Amino acid sequence: MEHETQVTRAWVLHPEITGARDRREASSALEEAIALAAALPNLDVVGSNVVRLSKAQPGRLFGTGKIEELRAMFAADEVELVLIDGPVSPVQQRNLEKAWKVKILDRTGLILEIFSDRARTREGVLQVEMAALSYQRTRLVRAWTHLERQRGGLGFVGGPGETQIEADRRAIDDQLVRLRRQLSKVVKTRELHRKARAKVPFPIVALVGYTNAGKSTLFNRVTGADVMAKDMLFATLDPTMRSVQLPNGLDVILSDTVGFISDLPTELVASFRATLEEVLAADLVLHVRDIAHDESEQQAEDVRIILESLGMGEDTRQLEVWNKIDLLEPAHRDGVMSKAGREEDIFAVSAVTGDGLETLFDAIAMALQSEKNRETLTLTFSQGKERAWLLKEGVVEEEEQTEEGFTLSVYWTTRQAKTFESL
Ligand code: GTP
Repeated sequence: MEHETQVTRAWVLHPEITGARDRREASSALEEAIALAAALPNLDVVGSNVVRLSKAQPGRLFGTGKIEELRAMFAADEVELVLIDGPVSPVQQRNLEKAWKVKILDRTGLILEIFSDRARTREGVLQVEMAALSYQRTRLVRAWTHLERQRGGLGFVGGPGETQIEADRRAIDDQLVRLRRQLSKVVKTRELHRKARAKVPFPIVALVGYTNAGKSTLFNRVTGADVMAKDMLFATLDPTMRSVQLPNGLDVILSDTVGFISDLPTELVASFRATLEEVLAADLVLHVRDIAHDESEQQAEDVRIILESLGMGEDTRQLEVWNKIDLLEPAHRDGVMSKAGREEDIFAVSAVTGDGLETLFDAIAMALQSEKNRETLTLTFSQGKERAWLLKEGVVEEEEQTEEGFTLSVYWTTRQAKTFESL
């Protein structure tokens, strides 16, 4: 027996309130919650169920009979942690923890734990800490042991540092101010890096998509890099960028991003904005979809909504990549392929078998080429820096010296034009 790593026995509950207009099937929501829980190390999901209720009880969420029934079940299975896939108020949480003698984690808490576990860059870590603090500020019944760095994670799941320290709001606010200051420094450094990257004369292609859609697998397939493609949600928290040459000779910078998820807690949407800003700087966005998933359409809609809320405009060119076609039944696959074939911006592929990738690469090249425009610029003699940049980018097709300066004919991408404006 392994005694070194403690494994917590967990149960996943999805409350389904009758009459509430849930967009998603309860069973599939439960399945996603279980997959999310599996993304946390040291959790053993020993059981799960959907609990139907006519309305949420303000004090204890569930009715008395249900609470007792669940208590007996948790006791029999020696459950230590119950994940409730939905919002749980601090009062409900306290009462249920008392009634069941377990630790409770709601959806936001769970996602925060996962983000914390996956954050790799300094910026990612700070953002998660800030989101966690804002979340905890609303529930001061919690211990905030993670501030003392007694263990990894945020301290929600329990463990050795679990003593109940009375957290007071001012201390949290002070901490938030400190983190915000640190973050602004990190963001400034990042800005510099981005500027440095803007000098790279390759177009940027960003992969976005619902969690588990296959972004990392596609990224690896194209770059040959090992970017942790696992059947694990949120395997990619921070964007990974690689410069690659597509098989058709085109050089691009490929950027892999964090997976999206529906009902992302608002604290997190705000915190991860900077991470996803990479997407806004892209010349081309590839929206990768798991087309074999039952709720593919719903997931795609969620991704579109998040992109829109981040401020991605109509002017950013997008292609949809319908991934995992190898998982479809032959008859269904034919239907999907011909549907994709009829749409100019949709490509059916399998990142695993490589099917359809060639057509996709050609489309990427086409999309990036068609984004290029010819323009004539006039520069004065004092704009030597701008002229040097244009020459270095290799976008100048013709140049003529005049009495006031230079007239240049350039052929460039929209991104290059934008960068030039900001010089
Ligand atoms: P996040 O990091 O959570 O955002 O996920 P991701 O979109 O990067 O997904 P990832 O590449 O990690 O793939 C998720 C799972 O789907 C892995 O188990 C992959 O092996 C599998 N997968 C990806 N593409 C395909 C495909 O074309 N066919 C099949 N059968 N499986 C695939």
